[in-house]
Amino acid sequence: MTEWWRHAVIYQIYPRSFGDGDGDGMGDLAGITARMQYLADLGIDALWLSPVFASPQVDHGYDISDYRDIDPLFGTLEDMDELIATAHDYGIRVTLDFVPNHTSDQHQWFTAAVASGRGSPERARYLFRDGRGPNGDEPPNNWKSVFGGPSWTRVDEPDGSPGQWYYHLFAPEQPDLNWRNPEVVAEFASVLRFWLDRGADGFRIDVSDALIKDDAWPDTATGEPIIPKGEDSPVHEVYREFRRVMDAYPGDRMAVIETGAEDEIVSLFIRPDEMHLAFNFKFVHAGFDGPKLRAAIDSSLAANAAVGAPTTWVTDNHDTPRSVSRLGQNATLAGAYVPGTMASGIFQEVDLELGTRRARALALVLLALPGAAYIYNGQELGLPNVDDLPDEVLQDPIWERSGRTVRGRDGCRIPVPWTTGANLGFSRARAKPWLPIPREWASLSVAAQHASADSMLTLYREALRVRRASTALGRGTLRWVSAPGEADDLLVLDMVGEGSTVRVVVNLSGAAIDLPEGELLLASQPVSAGQLPAIAAAWVALPPAPSIADRLISAVGDLTEAIPIVPTLRPGG
Ligand code: BGC
Repeated sequence: MTEWWRHAVIYQIYPRSFGDGDGDGMGDLAGITARMQYLADLGIDALWLSPVFASPQVDHGYDISDYRDIDPLFGTLEDMDELIATAHDYGIRVTLDFVPNHTSDQHQWFTAAVASGRGSPERARYLFRDGRGPNGDEPPNNWKSVFGGPSWTRVDEPDGSPGQWYYHLFAPEQPDLNWRNPEVVAEFASVLRFWLDRGADGFRIDVSDALIKDDAWPDTATGEPIIPKGEDSPVHEVYREFRRVMDAYPGDRMAVIETGAEDEIVSLFIRPDEMHLAFNFKFVHAGFDGPKLRAAIDSSLAANAAVGAPTTWVTDNHDTPRSVSRLGQNATLAGAYVPGTMASGIFQEVDLELGTRRARALALVLLALPGAAYIYNGQELGLPNVDDLPDEVLQDPIWERSGRTVRGRDGCRIPVPWTTGANLGFSRARAKPWLPIPREWASLSVAAQHASADSMLTLYREALRVRRASTALGRGTLRWVSAPGEADDLLVLDMVGEGSTVRVVVNLSGAAIDLPEGELLLASQPVSAGQLPAIAAAWVALPPAPSIADRLISAVGDLTEAIPIVPTLRPGG
């Protein structure tokens, strides 16, 4: 099969939280490998692992000190080899997180840059500048960091005097690399090869669109950085180089980019000679709002079609409050992480029953639309966001960086519940999970949901099974049946595949509606007497369109009905 990624279902694992193999309370590679059967039974095509590389863990692995090694917290290179081999045995591909915008401040390149002083080739790998003011003791410009505070930090020069400043889009422990320097491009191309050689099927590229900064470093009105992303930005040459590296390998390796840019900019990054897929954050932001969902679907499909790229569909990830909680509010995205803002993720008055019902319906949209779908671990269990973590257990660097005003993303990163036993099966009985797991999640555990016909897990398993067997779901062409603006609380579309069409009906309203004729493949709520209840979605296989011959026969039938039957004259009658 070629270009598997065009309609793949890719499952994001947050390695700290999926499964703890060695019993220290922290998820790890062995814990993932041991649970591969679960992933195979779920029916996904590929995994994306958030970073597991050597890291001081200031931003939970998004601060890498050695791109060619695994952090001991998660295991060893051999554990990764075993994970990849096991996944491949199950027919599951493995994609890894690739973090090119910044390294850790403990990376050997950065310590050498600080030690080597002004004007050195080591400094030229990062973004060092002299400060402003008479003694250079003011930052080079007013740009703010995404995690709060200024985006410049001053170093001491090797002789101990106050020195230059370096730029960091995120925390000070995450210095940004200088992507205008060919040495940086060459080094990261070599890192890609390292993992491709070890069998990685692809990458998720962190903050992909931010690699190049305006090198005039002007102050801005709001302190927002200026990050050129358009056609002329050198960032596209970087991705062309990465594409050449990946294309030299067999087996359709794939890269998906993370960007919060507008659709037209996103599509530049997924032109045929750049990367393959881009996360579609518009879809996350659309919540459970008919017109917004439709607009998000249409605009990303149109922008991507213009460059021949498929679209991705995503509702949850490790930076965004979980959709069950988000959708349980009336606001569509209050408190969610929008790249560049990192809002708080605190929810007021969440109606979990409503949120779960909406999330079930949205799952059938996510998995029907044409393109690749992402599922974030625990989404298939309907886990809610945990918004009442006590201050003392918070781990996200945003909490401290914001002066303890923004609580950060821990609430969507709680370990996955597997059983109803000790530590809900995430870790051994005596271990202390790195974030506390709510005891009431026993009822949401895999063991509790496994055999229940109406659980979220069963819905996802069924949806993935039906999608896999279909030429229409995920793979076909989308045709709207409901007119735009016809009704804000109804979305109807056909997914037209080879020889089959599946109608996707999404009832966002408070009342039941009639389903079309056809075979009901799956519904997010029980259907009775051909009626889809309120706040629900269904997949209905439409009866095959009649062939030309069938249509002729039926036309002749209509004609004969119209002609009065002339009694046959029998001789002698
Ligand atoms: C990742 C975040 C991370 C940030 C800095 C993001 O886009 O998804 O989890 O904190 O990049 O690396």
